[in-house]
Amino acid sequence: MSIAIETRGLTKRFGGLVALDGVDLQAAAGETLGIIGVNGAGKTTLMNCICGLYRPDGGDVFISGERVTGQPPHVVAHKGIGRTFQVPRVFRKMSLIDNLLVPVLDHRASDAELTERAEGMLARMQLIDLRHNYAEELSGGQQKLLEMARMLMPDPPIVMLDEPFAGVHPVLCKFMIERIEEMSGAGKAVLLISHDLTSIYRLSTRVVALNQGKVIAEGGVDDIRGNPAVIEAYLGT
Ligand SMILES: Nc1ncnc2c1ncn2[C@@H]1O[C@H](COP(=O)(O)OP(=O)(O)O)[C@@H](O)[C@H]1O
Ligand SMILES: [Mg+2]
Repeated sequence: MSIAIETRGLTKRFGGLVALDGVDLQAAAGETLGIIGVNGAGKTTLMNCICGLYRPDGGDVFISGERVTGQPPHVVAHKGIGRTFQVPRVFRKMSLIDNLLVPVLDHRASDAELTERAEGMLARMQLIDLRHNYAEELSGGQQKLLEMARMLMPDPPIVMLDEPFAGVHPVLCKFMIERIEEMSGAGKAVLLISHDLTSIYRLSTRVVALNQGKVIAEGGVDDIRGNPAVIEAYLGT
């Protein structure tokens, strides 16, 4: 299997705080890699360093074998990686359709083709009836779905989801889980960040546990579930 995403010795400091401390990980196409850890473990920082939002202080990031360390977000995105944010970042004063067209503005397809694609995506997220509404009119959970749809528009082979289930109604969580399964089923590499172990255990083919910026455990769901270091990290806080 080809490695879609890899970090080697990824390190990030904020002043005296070491938020990421030599993180090595790999995810292959079609795989869902779960990243778990308590609040402040370094999960979002990891994602920010991978997508170019933060410049790491050490180590490297590879997308489909190509080194992208320190490249700005739009360059990394063009290598084929999309992401969502812990607190969704939609364009509030734009319609749902227009939100989806933003990441494909530079694509060569015709407006009609792109609009059709956007509508198909909104239908899949059960947002089609709201396509002409402003994004700010959506509930928090719906904004997360909109952000997922926008992320999927350029059809990136790698996607990273930051806490997709946080603050989301259980019915919507179930719907999101199905959409995430579709992404990996379509052959995408999925990096799924969550402090919620139940959904991670359900979706992940492999799990990396972070604590204080370090990888404290890595393996299949069954290895992680009973791992003493993981249990201690969760119970100890
Ligand atoms: N932009 C930043 N400036 C300063 N400290 C930060 C910044 N981003 C994250 N941190 C710190 O880095 C650590 C890891 O944070 P974060 O990656 O957000 O954790 P998680 O997503 O696992 O909850 C925390 O101690 C957090 O306070
Ligand atoms: Mg976070």
